[in-house]
Amino acid sequence: MAIKRIAVVPGDGIGKEVIPAALQVVEASGATVEFTHFDWSADRYLKDGVTIPADGFAMLARDFDAIFLGALGDPRVPTNIHAKEILLGMRFKMDLYANVRPVKLLDEALCPLKGIKPENVDFVVVRENTEGPYVDVGGVFKQGTLDEIATQEDINTRKGVERIIRFAFELARTQKRKKVLMSDKSNVMTHAGGLWQRVFKEVAAEYSDIQALHMYVDALCMHMARAPQQFDVIVTNNMFGDIITDLAAALQGGLGMAASGNIHPGKTSMFEPVHGSAPPFAGKNIANPIGAISTAAMMLEHLGLTKEPDRINQAVLQAVRQNKITPDVGGGLGTRETAAWIADCVSRA
Ligand code: NAD
Ligand code: IPM
Ligand code: MN
Repeated sequence: MAIKRIAVVPGDGIGKEVIPAALQVVEASGATVEFTHFDWSADRYLKDGVTIPADGFAMLARDFDAIFLGALGDPRVPTNIHAKEILLGMRFKMDLYANVRPVKLLDEALCPLKGIKPENVDFVVVRENTEGPYVDVGGVFKQGTLDEIATQEDINTRKGVERIIRFAFELARTQKRKKVLMSDKSNVMTHAGGLWQRVFKEVAAEYSDIQALHMYVDALCMHMARAPQQFDVIVTNNMFGDIITDLAAALQGGLGMAASGNIHPGKTSMFEPVHGSAPPFAGKNIANPIGAISTAAMMLEHLGLTKEPDRINQAVLQAVRQNKITPDVGGGLGTRETAAWIADCVSRA
């Protein structure tokens, strides 16, 4: 297989630790990949005002097969402008419309719910990634006065809703999953919810082999914390998808364990752990690298590799079973030691 070219953007905070940790594991897997590093981050922005160069997105799409990103967010940049331009820039400008967030429990000990076993937590959240309030349409009027008005529009397009719902059904077929559940708040947000409801019914009718279900997002949160075994594929909008995937991360052992991909089939896609830059954890060698390592495996799989991601996933499972993990998930190892253990396990597989 031709060498896969990967753009690496560690970003801020613990991104600078978990990304090198994951790269070490990918290298140990023998995957034929070539990394090119980019320093787009708060540090870079504070140094010369650059968030991402003007031709950055076109260059990524042209020169790379995938992007591997850590996290963006730094208290020294309170506007979060660099995160907005780099992270949301990639999602929006590269049109990475499907945010795929697998939710898989590796070991019973990691789940905060009693009696829940690994086979009970195995679903995928497909989050719309280019619309909703995230597009930041709106404004303020009479700012700073008692009459201030702020609006934040929730943008939902027919095209955007249809393609994410179709993506969810296609993913269900590819992964041999049986159910797609759409979650919204159509009992209150009737305009946007109405569009989602209509399109979901239309698309579901084309996939008679897959069961189509619906749940309001508030009820979904309750069910996720009580009976996660009922879920298979969940499709939802950008904002609800963001919120429920932090909850779903908790089912897996916490944010340090959760992986994700920002995908547009056929285009250069971006892979990042679900967690953020966790500033209080940064530079202490305590961040859990497993979310990033599992994300790297997901990226390799997306690029058509099979052996290498399988080996990485198996090694992660062994690390969890043998308690070669960081303190957030009950272990005693540091970020680097966990990654070294997993890399060693991968290279011996
Ligand atoms: P966060 O995910 O950075 O951290 C929340 C908490 O989760 C941490 O305090 C820690 O307890 C735990 N945690 C997260 N990752 C962990 C890891 N790898 N190992 C162990 N524990 C981990 O969320 P936050 O504190 O709300 O946000 C911090 C900054 O990150 C903000 O600037 C935010 O905007 C940004 N952020 C960026 C991304 C991204 O770039 N994809 C995602 C989420 C948040
Ligand atoms: C995520 C993050 C981002 C989001 C932030 C940092 C913009 O929370 O990837 O889940 O809200 O999408
Ligand atoms: Mn989030």
